[in-house]
Amino acid sequence: MAPDGLALLIATAELRAGVARLARRIDRDYADTGLVLVCLLKGAVIFASDLLRELRVEVRRVEYIRASSYGGGTESSGNVRIEGTPAAEQIAGEHVLLVDDIADTGHTGAAVMEYIRGLGPASLRYCALLDKPERRAAAVQCDYVGFTIPNHFVVGYGMDRDERYRGLPAVYYFPQG
Ligand code: IMP
Ligand code: MG
Repeated sequence: MAPDGLALLIATAELRAGVARLARRIDRDYADTGLVLVCLLKGAVIFASDLLRELRVEVRRVEYIRASSYGGGTESSGNVRIEGTPAAEQIAGEHVLLVDDIADTGHTGAAVMEYIRGLGPASLRYCALLDKPERRAAAVQCDYVGFTIPNHFVVGYGMDRDERYRGLPAVYYFPQG
């Protein structure tokens, strides 16, 4: 049973199948090169962990970047703060895959992609478990998307509202908002 009147959007089994589908595509695309996976904290932790275990391609290292832009509301400001970044030598010359929980306005993805590009990777792609294209404000290309969803605020599977609900095993939304 979901707490607090949450409604189910993507069930656990669907998430598992979606992650496996993405992993098979990434395996094919990086078969000859391997990759460095960069997980965007905090929301992508569970997705990135599951994706990592599904991948068969060589993952040479896993790095983390923390990005935040919410003041506490539910809309990204475009004023993205980037912290805890990998050293340039861990990225330079590597085929880098940035793994995010959700591409919403796109401000975060665009800012972090630009930051990583500045570290000189051999290639750089962006993978988001969820895509809310209706809300896009910044130009960011989602190279891999698990699920395209309508404009609901979602929680669970790593995603939060004011830090709550990250541990829910499926993706839920607030039916009233
Ligand atoms: P963006 O910069 O608007 O694309 O969104 C950046 C971050 O906002 C995402 O990586 C999430 O952490 C968070 N976010 C956006 N939409 C949602 C949502 O529906 N639920 C929970 N977090 C969200
Ligand atoms: Mg968040």
